[in-house]
Amino acid sequence: MQTTIERIESNVRGYARLFPTVFQSAVGSTLTDTAGKTYIDFFCGAGSLNYGHNPRKAKAALLDYIERDGVQHSLDTATVAKVDFLDTFDRLILRPRGLQYRIQFTGPTGTNAVEAAIKLARKQTGRSHVIAFTGGYHGHSLGSLALTANQYYHSESYGSHNNVTHLPFDGYLDDQDTSEILAKMLQDRSSGLPMPAAVILETVQGEGGINVASDAWLRRIASICEEHDIRLIIDDIQVGNGRTGTFFSFERAGITPDLVCLSKSIGGGLPMSLLLIRPERDTWNPGEHTGTFRGNNLAFVAATAVLRHWADPKFETEIAVRSERVRQRMEQICHRHRDAGFECRGRGLIWGIDVKRGDLASEVIRRAFKAGLLIEASGNKDQVLKVMPALTIPMALLDQGLKILDSSIRQTMASIPTVSEKPASTAVVFPNLAMPTGASSLQGSN
Ligand SMILES: Cc1ncc(COP(=O)(O)O)c(C=O)c1O
Repeated sequence: MQTTIERIESNVRGYARLFPTVFQSAVGSTLTDTAGKTYIDFFCGAGSLNYGHNPRKAKAALLDYIERDGVQHSLDTATVAKVDFLDTFDRLILRPRGLQYRIQFTGPTGTNAVEAAIKLARKQTGRSHVIAFTGGYHGHSLGSLALTANQYYHSESYGSHNNVTHLPFDGYLDDQDTSEILAKMLQDRSSGLPMPAAVILETVQGEGGINVASDAWLRRIASICEEHDIRLIIDDIQVGNGRTGTFFSFERAGITPDLVCLSKSIGGGLPMSLLLIRPERDTWNPGEHTGTFRGNNLAFVAATAVLRHWADPKFETEIAVRSERVRQRMEQICHRHRDAGFECRGRGLIWGIDVKRGDLASEVIRRAFKAGLLIEASGNKDQVLKVMPALTIPMALLDQGLKILDSSIRQTMASIPTVSEKPASTAVVFPNLAMPTGASSLQGSN
């Protein structure tokens, strides 16, 4: 079956190379392939499976909805599934957090929410420039691609850098407060930076290498945006939906962004994407931003089912317990390999082990896969192992996965110097990938 993939699927395929098997079924935090081998999932559909594969409540609700001939396709007409989702999201997520947002359904994938956010900010400010950050990842449609920093995805022929300036993210210049650069450039009429319509950022950069912005930096960026009437867009596509321990990743910083992009896990495993808009910023005219697959009714049904986790205050406590276990193990691993310069970064249930070399990370991923663990890497050299289990993973499985990761790292480090870094221009980060020369990254290829 792998050969069918190799024969017919485009060369652009990515994860099929990283995980070279054919998967057959998936429940909770495990997948099983056609050979009957089971894998623990620390990859989590790049953040789309925070509630696990086929969450039982979502599955039951979906089967029931289909059985009753519930409306499946409806563009953005009103359906019972949509009304239930909106009521549930408002009751369980927005109101308990004192948030008032209007909800715009966009096309079904994350980049569609980013495109809508940028377009709305440009429309209402009458400006075209946008600030994004080093390491940022916002998708691959051309507007979002311009905001995505990694050069692997860019070609000047796309004309995709138009009207976007990337400034240093928090921590990019070690201890320097990089928000000061933005503040100063906006005040200085000779900085060359046009007054932007929007600033867009991830509070924890998932594809950029698990770079965590401090609360103080986020607050400073929010206040700069307010001062200059710039729309602050938080891209919570990967680290929203409870990934950092709270539903929204910006909650602990106490900021209220103008616009919030949500996707991935919001659909309980099915495609869904939305934009949260502060009511005073909802300046769209009817039908002004449209698309055929806005509002996937099956995703509404699954989403409503998984959102019910948030009705129970114990849910956040359980995430915190798992997060603490992961943090401890990450620190142990990094301490053990401190001589190799390993560093750990993360928050909640998204952690990165920066092993400093793409080839090492790749070898760890290969060994982990063989031992039954799915994990990927991110960062500018794919050098950061990305630990991202489901929020609902049973503790025993979490421990088992962490053990496999630990021993895969130990084996890899013990195999040095057989694992040797290749020059950057020819590095093949994933040895099992037939990547073109110079293609040093697969990050974000989800
Ligand atoms: C932060 C962030 N924004 C946007 C996207 C793009 O989402 P999609 O791949 O669903 O278009 C991603 C995908 O990884 C992401 O991590």
